[in-house]
Amino acid sequence: MKLSSSLLLLSSLSLSTAALIPSRSPFRTLAKRANATVDPMYQLSNDSDFHFELLRVLSMAPYEGSDIGETLVAAKQIIPGSYESFYSAFFTLANRVLNVSTSIDATRFPVSARNAWFKTSSYFRSADFFLHGNWSDPRINSLWDSQLSAFDAALSLMPKPIRGERITLHSANTTNSTAFSIPAVFYPSGKPGPRPTIILCNGYDGSQEEMYHFWVKAIVERGMNAITYEGPGQPTVRRQQNLGFIPNWEAVVTPVVDYALTRREVSPSQIGILGFSFGGYLAPRAAAFEHRLAAVLAIDGEYNTGPAILSQFPAALQAAFNASDADAFNKGTEDILSSPEAPTEVKWAIQQGMWAFKEASPYNWMKNLQAYTLVGITDKIQAPVFVADAENDIFFPGQGKILAEHLGDLATYHYFTGAEGAGAHCSLGAEVLQTQVALDWFEETVKYTEKQGCS
Ligand SMILES: *[C@@H]1O[C@H](CO)[C@@H](O)[C@H](O)[C@H]1NC(C)=O
Ligand SMILES: *[C@@H]1O[C@H](CO)[C@@H](O)[C@H](O)[C@H]1NC(C)=O
Ligand SMILES: *[C@@H]1O[C@H](CO)[C@@H](O)[C@H](O)[C@H]1NC(C)=O
Ligand SMILES: *[C@@H]1O[C@H](CO)[C@@H](O)[C@H](O)[C@H]1NC(C)=O
Ligand SMILES: *[C@@H]1O[C@H](CO)[C@@H](O)[C@H](O)[C@H]1NC(C)=O
Ligand SMILES: *[C@@H]1O[C@H](CO)[C@@H](O)[C@H](O)[C@H]1NC(C)=O
Ligand SMILES: *[C@@H]1O[C@H](CO)[C@@H](O)[C@H](O)[C@H]1NC(C)=O
Repeated sequence: MKLSSSLLLLSSLSLSTAALIPSRSPFRTLAKRANATVDPMYQLSNDSDFHFELLRVLSMAPYEGSDIGETLVAAKQIIPGSYESFYSAFFTLANRVLNVSTSIDATRFPVSARNAWFKTSSYFRSADFFLHGNWSDPRINSLWDSQLSAFDAALSLMPKPIRGERITLHSANTTNSTAFSIPAVFYPSGKPGPRPTIILCNGYDGSQEEMYHFWVKAIVERGMNAITYEGPGQPTVRRQQNLGFIPNWEAVVTPVVDYALTRREVSPSQIGILGFSFGGYLAPRAAAFEHRLAAVLAIDGEYNTGPAILSQFPAALQAAFNASDADAFNKGTEDILSSPEAPTEVKWAIQQGMWAFKEASPYNWMKNLQAYTLVGITDKIQAPVFVADAENDIFFPGQGKILAEHLGDLATYHYFTGAEGAGAHCSLGAEVLQTQVALDWFEETVKYTEKQGCS
């Protein structure tokens, strides 16, 4: 999840980070748009990006993805700005909890074992998070293999009626992309009769495994089915198929909808799509071309992603980019990456972006990104759209509102506030509130009233 969460950071540095930037630094311009509102939330690190990523781990606690105490113990080991310390704290934790997972007799204590395996998976994912600046780092794949196998161990321990089932779908060849495989998981409601179903993807850096804890468990508890998937650029597809992001996200979603319609558990007229973080661009984009969807959730909404990211670069780099001066843009971006003054979120967002878009040059990455915009296509969307926005999301201020304005009557705009503890990007830390608001909207929108067996 997080394109949003951090690219945008370029201008969007939080106050704590902005305060660290010397006033004559070139990075001062990066901070100038930071909102003067003080984040009302307690900060877990004085590195604002590390705060956000630690909050992200804690946010999985209500739905089986982490424990609070051990995450805070890891947090205390982490040195602001040090990727290696972040890796090391979570790698140590992941191995400790892995040890717990393997020591539980899963035949006698299946729930305990499942809980431990889910946490193990989360902590291996967190250990990997900041390592994508060096594409040859073998930990990128080894940590991912560990998170996948721990997650599979947890899936196998779910009660049979609601056990998640891994499936592999296939895209068609399109004009702009050759065929690829789509790893997905079908999570049945376990309740009788065809049911509403939500198809979910994560964003710029998040996995489908993480989506279980942010959304799926809450959906299944409400008696509905969920399907998570990943497309090109997302963590498993990037690694296993060596594919970067594509803008025409309907190429990913259409095969998932085709698959959903083959399942007897799925009510064909009650299929929704939810995109989280950068998924707030991807899901509406797909819905503009895939009209079998009854509802769309963009959390948080994004309208003009690529150009908005460019606009947050220093003016001299924007000018170089606009003049197609690849050398100057690359040099300026490399200077940011090697500067001790540049905030973590700035460096991370560039490194993660180049890796996920599979572009070794910053200029080509930025060029590629410019295709990620909903300008001129929002009028092709036919389904109602829930557009979330978050008060303290200094990463993409205003994007949700702009998307809602362009959608007009189709949009239901919801502004999550800092006072509710829901002001962070994607309302991280407020998963119970967020699922209540968004899923109640979905149930009303698809007229889900037949909830027999949900009591
Ligand atoms: C900054 O925060 C204030 C107070 O919450 C809000 O009124 C304003 O709209 C915010 N500005 C931006 C650009 O998000
Ligand atoms: C974080 O806060 C501590 C204590 O206030 C301070 O000593 C340290 O320099 C800060 N580190 C960064 C990276 O801001
Ligand atoms: C795993 O558990 C065993 C037995 O409790 C213990 O001896 C060992 O040190 C643990 N290993 C780790 C990595 O925690
Ligand atoms: C990237 O990782 C590889 C493998 O660990 C290592 O050999 C190489 O030195 C690293 N490159 C940089 C620039 O750190
Ligand atoms: C896509 O095109 C490639 C190359 O032309 C071909 O080998 C492959 O079978 C096609 N895949 C599908 C799903 O049509
Ligand atoms: C394919 O790429 C062209 C040129 O970039 C673009 O105009 C067109 O909209 C793309 N088609 C799809 C389906 O994305
Ligand atoms: C670069 O181009 C964009 C889009 O045309 C424009 O909005 C921006 O102001 C330009 N920036 C500079 C510094 O020329």
